[in-house]
Amino acid sequence: MSYPSIHTDMPPVRIDVTTPSRAYTVAIENNSIERLRGILDEVHAPPRRFIVSSPLVWRLHGRRVAGAIDGSEPILVPDGERHKQLATVVRIYDALVRANADRASTLITFGGGVIGDMAGFAAATYLRGIALVHVPTTLLAQVDSAIGGKVGVNHPLGKNLIGSFYQPHAVVIDPTVLGTLPRREFRAGLYEVIKYGVTSSAGLFDRVTRDKTAIFAREPEALTPVIAESCGIKAAVVSADERESGLRRILNFGHTAGHAIEAVTKYRRYRHGEAVAYGMLVAAELASARGALADRDKKALFDVIAGLGPLPAIADVSTAQILDAMRHDKKVVSGRLHFVLPTAIGSTAIVDDVTDKEMREALKRVGFRK
Ligand SMILES: NC(=O)c1ccc[n+]([C@@H]2O[C@H](COP(=O)([O-])OP(=O)(O)OC[C@H]3O[C@@H](n4cnc5c(N)ncnc54)[C@H](O)[C@@H]3O)[C@@H](O)[C@H]2O)c1
Ligand SMILES: [Zn+2]
Repeated sequence: MSYPSIHTDMPPVRIDVTTPSRAYTVAIENNSIERLRGILDEVHAPPRRFIVSSPLVWRLHGRRVAGAIDGSEPILVPDGERHKQLATVVRIYDALVRANADRASTLITFGGGVIGDMAGFAAATYLRGIALVHVPTTLLAQVDSAIGGKVGVNHPLGKNLIGSFYQPHAVVIDPTVLGTLPRREFRAGLYEVIKYGVTSSAGLFDRVTRDKTAIFAREPEALTPVIAESCGIKAAVVSADERESGLRRILNFGHTAGHAIEAVTKYRRYRHGEAVAYGMLVAAELASARGALADRDKKALFDVIAGLGPLPAIADVSTAQILDAMRHDKKVVSGRLHFVLPTAIGSTAIVDDVTDKEMREALKRVGFRK
């Protein structure tokens, strides 16, 4: 498939997402959160507006979006992964009920992926669904979680087990909010960008390698095109396959082993993107052992990941535990695990016949404990 070309020299960048359930625009522009009210009016977002954010994000950037809600109080909830649970969603419902939020309401999520997923789920279920607008504030949320309509929370026994597909009315991306993002969080988002590069765009992959320093410095000329191209890929994939019955599965590249690594380490040691980085390396080793990925491309992937900076150690994480965790993955369909293998930088294949032995060997080659 082909992806839309994006002209970043003429901001704002606008990318259309067209799914059977809703069509909406992802708008990327510096300082756009300060004009949020006008943007909401343009997309006809219902007039009673509520912002859900976290105390930290609100302290850092709340002043800049407060105009969108007439200075009324935001709904603040904690945003660590361990708070991504139904109890926190109930706090959002409580605040909406107390404020008599009705069907003419818009819920605006203002935070990282945790806030977006949780508050998005609240919007999907409160009164059987009120309007939702995402204003993502982490790189991961801007390039990934705010687009595509997946909302939900974790269950004590597994990540994202409770949720829904619920597309927003709009996604408003302001790259300037990333200025306060800790370097590790920023890097975690960049691994998802690399994921898009490997699955769909050698150009994006090369750009991350080439402009790394300027991207880390969050220079708009370097960063905005990376966000825009990533959003363009996600938007195109989601538009072609909203419910992940086909093409959308390619975005799980790196996520099968990645989710298992997160689960085995109880979601504490790695940021999601870091676990995905390891997952991409595992998938590359698998593909390479099958002769499906050239050494040159495998090396390019290892180099770009190593070049971004240190990843938390894995030498004490056991291969057997990871294999076990993978058997519980949501990507297991009728007992078969679907696995996305890279076949070149910019293309993938989905297979469902990876054996335990192959997996053990790939994990060992990446450095996991026997
Ligand atoms: N819905 C989807 O399609 C989808 C896709 C990928 C990931 N996710 C979910 O996203 C979540 C991870 O999202 P995340 O990485 O954004 O984590 P997060 O929401 O926990 O944010 C990471 C940290 O950054 C802080 N933060 C947010 N914005 C900031 C800013 N501008 N400046 C400084 N600090 C800021 C937050 O307070 C938090 O401590 C996971 O729960 C994952 O399951 C969902
Ligand atoms: Zn991910």
